[in-house]
Amino acid sequence: MGFDWKKQKIAVGSDHAGFDLKQEIIAFLQKHEIECYDFGVYEKTPADYPSIAKEVALAVADHEFDKGIIICGSGLGVCIVANKVVGIRAVTCHETYSARVSRTHNDANVLTLGARVIGTDLAKEVVLTWLKTEFEGGRHQLRVSMIEG
Ligand code: RB5
Repeated sequence: MGFDWKKQKIAVGSDHAGFDLKQEIIAFLQKHEIECYDFGVYEKTPADYPSIAKEVALAVADHEFDKGIIICGSGLGVCIVANKVVGIRAVTCHETYSARVSRTHNDANVLTLGARVIGTDLAKEVVLTWLKTEFEGGRHQLRVSMIEG
């Protein structure tokens, strides 16, 4: 059975800096009929990125969602936080090559974006590439297994 990229359930979250891009990405996912859940924030009031990133990462690690997308200003803070959660392989990608190999080689399960770094159209392309690309397994499976001992 082939990989049906449209059947994935995606957890999405952002801090205030990522709010506008989060809204765009959620609308984009909905347009593609991909099931997603918005973990907030729901307004642009300054919010602490570690809280939202941890919530999304835990939901993915608990297998409530297949993957997560977390957005902050740089994409970096939320990536650091998400990677503290056991079972999470979070990557910051601002171009499609990294988005693709983070899936084929690293089986990344959280994508982080920096709303102050990337434009909306490129962010959508990155998201689409990341969601459509399947993990290659094989020699990469052993390496991914080694990440958490
Ligand atoms: C907020 O100003 C900013 O620090 C945050 O969005 C993020 O970029 C942190 O890594």
